[in-house]
Amino acid sequence: MHWTKSQLNKTIKKIIGNRLLIIASNREPYIHVYKEGKIEYIRPVGGAVTALDPIMRVCKGTWVAYGSGSADREVVNKNNEVEVPPEAPKYKLRRIWLNKDEENGYYYGYSNKAIWPLCHMAYTGPSFDEVDWAYYKIVNRKFANTILDIVKDKKAFVWIQDYHLMLLSKLLKEKNKNLLTAHFLHIPWPNPEAFRICPQKIEILEGLLANDLLGFHIRYHCNNFVETLRLEMEARIDKEKNSVTYGGHETLIRAFPISVDFEETSKAADSKEIKNTMRKLREEFAVKDGTFVMVGLDRIDYTKGLIEKIQGLDRFFEKFPQYKGRVLFIQKGGLSRMHIPEYKALNERLNSLVEEVNWKHSTEKWLPILFIKRHMSRKEVIALYKIADACIVSPLHDGMNLVCKEFIATRNDLDGVLLLSQFTGAARELGGAMFVNPYDRENFAKAIKKAIELPREKKEKRMKRLRAVVKENNIYKWAGKFLEELKKI
Ligand code: G6P
Repeated sequence: MHWTKSQLNKTIKKIIGNRLLIIASNREPYIHVYKEGKIEYIRPVGGAVTALDPIMRVCKGTWVAYGSGSADREVVNKNNEVEVPPEAPKYKLRRIWLNKDEENGYYYGYSNKAIWPLCHMAYTGPSFDEVDWAYYKIVNRKFANTILDIVKDKKAFVWIQDYHLMLLSKLLKEKNKNLLTAHFLHIPWPNPEAFRICPQKIEILEGLLANDLLGFHIRYHCNNFVETLRLEMEARIDKEKNSVTYGGHETLIRAFPISVDFEETSKAADSKEIKNTMRKLREEFAVKDGTFVMVGLDRIDYTKGLIEKIQGLDRFFEKFPQYKGRVLFIQKGGLSRMHIPEYKALNERLNSLVEEVNWKHSTEKWLPILFIKRHMSRKEVIALYKIADACIVSPLHDGMNLVCKEFIATRNDLDGVLLLSQFTGAARELGGAMFVNPYDRENFAKAIKKAIELPREKKEKRMKRLRAVVKENNIYKWAGKFLEELKKI
């Protein structure tokens, strides 16, 4: 069956029925900010909100999230709710306010200094701080109280997102046993040896096991999670059913590879407006005719392999100097989590590395790398994908990665090569990509050369294959399959 918006709609009606649907996540899908005295909104860049917004437009529930924008308070009603998308409202966004200490401890601290590095097993050690943990619990309780207040005595399904809210289901069920809760983790789950160092591991696992359904991107993360339980908890594991029973409560564990709104993105990419925007971007970036353009779009995060990408490009220009002046790499980097020292340091290191590599290879008329940090609208992002001859997505570790899937969805011209890190969840589905190991500079450089030299028919063949996968496994299928599992509960 091919999943579409209307198919998902039917599934929701059948499965959710008269229950309220509530999504809870840290990041909100629309952030209202002041710009030159006026209120505007921006769409954050993270994968989770990109994926969930089209679903909420269909589901019409309430999305509960932390209100982080400078003008967020100005646009809500007395219940702290605002209808979104602002230009054509489809669902409610209920904002939760955090004070500086809460934001610091819960978001910067426990979520992003402890859990994020722990689960990505990445190259900056997790640090577990008692005060951060205390705020993590306080904010999870804040979310629980808000949701209980929305639900009152109605029936509801609460769909929890990501690693910021791993205690939420338990807190909800302690107050209201009739709630149906499910949690989708947008990040990898590490192996038991990595996870066992976490001082708060039992409370986290108990929090997650209060859910009726627990989802990860890929089977491998499910297996890691089950192995973690085997090591840490007295839980009964049912291999046949892929479920775990703890304290008399059963949780189904399933893999659901998340995706993008293929149809919408593909259609948007075809519009006249995008053609104009492409022209503007080419002008802005001074792209000369005949230049081979490569792009990257990432949050500036140490898991995204940005340093390795620039080093790979450096090696490419060293090894194949014949390409100097003929290739341009445009990296769009979204600043993120800048109050965490590792992120600040990474940003500084990247700036100086880009400068160094540019200095080393540039000629009077040509710079090899453009590092763009300004905010780009959705239109501009689509146009950026479309002016690219290749897109380089090279994280060191990524639960899924939606940049590569968005790139594919925009390429209805069947042109464009995807260079993809083998360490992304997406690599398991996207066989038509050209794979790279971001740590292997020599091969990275060779892969770039191969991408440039790939004949048009081969590009088309690869892109067709990639598009067929993303078209079939779109975001509606992800949500539909997730919700269908609820029938089994
Ligand atoms: C990851 C997380 C998302 C998050 C995104 C952006 O993809 O799984 O939940 O929204 O990063 O991070 P930020 O901290 O800026 O929300």
